[in-house]
Amino acid sequence: MNRKIGFIGAGNVATTIIEGLIDTYPQACNNVYISNRNKNKGRSLQKKLNINFCENNVDVIKACEVFFICVKPDNYLEVLKEIKSFISKDSLIISIAAGISIDYIQGILGTSFKIVRAMPNIAVSVRTGMTTISANNNVTEKELNLVMDIFNSIGLADVIDEDLIDVATIISSCSPAFVAMFIEALADGGVLQGMSRDKAYKYVAQSMMGTAKMIVDLEKHPGELKDLVSSPAGITIEGVYNLEKNGFRSIIMEAIEACNLKIKSLTDRKK
Ligand SMILES: NC(=O)c1ccc[n+]([C@@H]2O[C@H](COP(=O)([O-])OP(=O)(O)OC[C@H]3O[C@@H](n4cnc5c(N)ncnc54)[C@H](OP(=O)(O)O)[C@@H]3O)[C@@H](O)[C@H]2O)c1
Repeated sequence: MNRKIGFIGAGNVATTIIEGLIDTYPQACNNVYISNRNKNKGRSLQKKLNINFCENNVDVIKACEVFFICVKPDNYLEVLKEIKSFISKDSLIISIAAGISIDYIQGILGTSFKIVRAMPNIAVSVRTGMTTISANNNVTEKELNLVMDIFNSIGLADVIDEDLIDVATIISSCSPAFVAMFIEALADGGVLQGMSRDKAYKYVAQSMMGTAKMIVDLEKHPGELKDLVSSPAGITIEGVYNLEKNGFRSIIMEAIEACNLKIKSLTDRKK
């Protein structure tokens, strides 16, 4: 990782990405440049991570071939307008803002820049995130691989057509809320049967992590896993039957459908 990498906005997500990057590529800290609206916050991150701090956003653009825009969506327009005339056609711009499309950025900067859109989920904070990546046609495969390397340092990254980024965002970035609700509900079930809440959360969360690991690491099909633990006329299949009777899967699919309608209505409003 010997490219100079910049971050405009040194908030939560930028910090997590930089920490993952430096953990995986310790020599990268010399090549990381940040700027932040609140300069004291930027300087304290500079000291904490031993990276470079720029007094303004344009200095980040001038110093780096690759830069992330890590400000909130509401601050995007002002930042894009501020940096527009300083960006080189060879720069790689990585946007992580929810709901800001490549088209929107191109509408402000023009179509000749290299733009990547990346949506990391909350689990990047424990280096087990899922990041969805889309790029415009100006981005080369080598550049896309660089972005993948950065996000793979904080979990798993995958490239997807931008048309599918909304649904990918829902099933990776909204889903931690649904999974947390499922963990809570399973633990409530344990508590109802007399378990302590602390133990119930621990047992359920660990089982959830192990199940996910079997699917990811061993490439087990979820159905195969369900069949493995469901003996004929056994206890597990009784629970599976009950969940199915109550529409477990369709409730979840309908929730994803509702999220998709919501995300589309928000995007339509921004056009
Ligand atoms: N949080 C998530 O789980 C998540 C997941 C995926 C994507 N995202 C996206 O990631 C982006 C950042 O989110 P976050 O949670 O990291 O937000 P955050 O902690 O509020 O960080 C945003 C940073 O941008 C700085 N900033 C604002 N305007 C600026 C400007 N004009 N110039 C330079 N810096 C400026 C802010 O500075 P101050 O210190 O002055 O406020 C703040 O440090 C958002 O667009 C969000 O949609 C977030």
